[in-house]
Amino acid sequence: MKAAVIGSGFMGRVHTEALRRLGNVEVVSVSGHDSAALRVALGDPSIGAVHICTPNAAHFPAAKAALEAGKHVLCEKPLAVSTEEAAELVELARHKKLRNCTCHNLRYYPMVQHMRRMREAGELGEILVAQGTYSQDWLLYDTDWNWRIEVEAGGPSRALADIGSHWCDMAEHITGLRITRLCADLQTFHKTRKRPRDAVETFAGKTLSPSDYDEVAISTEDFGAVVFRMGDRTRGAFTASQVSAGCKNRLSIGIYGSKSSVAWNQERPDELWIGNRNTNNQIVIKDPSLLKEGARSYADLPGGHSEGYDDTFKQVFRRFYKSIQDPSAAPEYPQFSDGLRQLEILETELNSHRLHAWAEVE
Ligand SMILES: NC(=O)c1ccc[n+]([C@@H]2O[C@H](COP(=O)([O-])OP(=O)(O)OC[C@H]3O[C@@H](n4cnc5c(N)ncnc54)[C@H](O)[C@@H]3O)[C@@H](O)[C@H]2O)c1
Repeated sequence: MKAAVIGSGFMGRVHTEALRRLGNVEVVSVSGHDSAALRVALGDPSIGAVHICTPNAAHFPAAKAALEAGKHVLCEKPLAVSTEEAAELVELARHKKLRNCTCHNLRYYPMVQHMRRMREAGELGEILVAQGTYSQDWLLYDTDWNWRIEVEAGGPSRALADIGSHWCDMAEHITGLRITRLCADLQTFHKTRKRPRDAVETFAGKTLSPSDYDEVAISTEDFGAVVFRMGDRTRGAFTASQVSAGCKNRLSIGIYGSKSSVAWNQERPDELWIGNRNTNNQIVIKDPSLLKEGARSYADLPGGHSEGYDDTFKQVFRRFYKSIQDPSAAPEYPQFSDGLRQLEILETELNSHRLHAWAEVE
């Protein structure tokens, strides 16, 4: 099978490397900006699938064109910049009977899968509280710049769309519950930022010292705090921040049940904290032989051999390509409908903030 990867930045490189690790997919790299090369790739019948790794606003036109050309599509998150666009992609993929995936890869850390299976086995009891944060520091200074800051490239939201969406996807995936109502408070600390005159790739801004800036007004949020309700009784809260000094890529999530609790932090991905009321707490270390059965296939290496961020992409892609080769296989990965789901939550967050009120997720 041949796959085209559109966009050759941070994610383009991560996707290309993960695809090569599968061993049965040949990669054709297409620069996101080169529309002629994209047309050639879409017209090539030997290319079966397209990975979209461009800035958010460029997802919808590329995904639509790829589906119309009969390609299976794996699109980076957020799937689009509005629910209207995302719903159109869900419908088009359904109509064309093509495999579709939104890359919420963070679900596929082995310890996240273990938490999910503990919940399914009833070991946590009734889920009472879901809490956490997704915090980074790479946009702390007003000289830090990336396309995500601009509405035209990233969409109307930044911290909540870029990283908050991963947190909510993970919370719903582990608990099996849906966020039903929420109240959000956003803050843009830097009302203006200094935009370098040359383009800056993701996370690369920290190592640059641009001599020439344009001062531009900013509307996308640096920070968001969301209080929410899940299912009938569960309560929760999370923050998404790109201005928290020292936090590099800290997705931390705690699920607190009526029997016991679990907590996990992406910065230490092979460890899982289990909290008990009447016995000692535990730190569980990733070891496939000790993982819950359903979680075992998400770990490829023996205990003590760490598995991290890169490996989550391999896990998603492996399942995506398996489902292309076997049309009867159930999709064991987040689909476009999951991407639409996250945009529904996101738009509710933006509405709630605008209205200073609780809002119901559609
Ligand atoms: N799943 C994850 O963990 C994860 C992590 C980081 C980024 N992402 C997502 O991946 C996507 C790409 O992010 P990135 O961090 O790789 O960005 P990046 O800036 O590193 O790379 C973007 C690529 O798109 C190209 N491009 C830039 N502007 C374009 C435009 N207007 N039209 C078409 N192509 C354009 C660039 O040349 C570059 O090749 C985003 O949607 C982002 O949300 C996902």
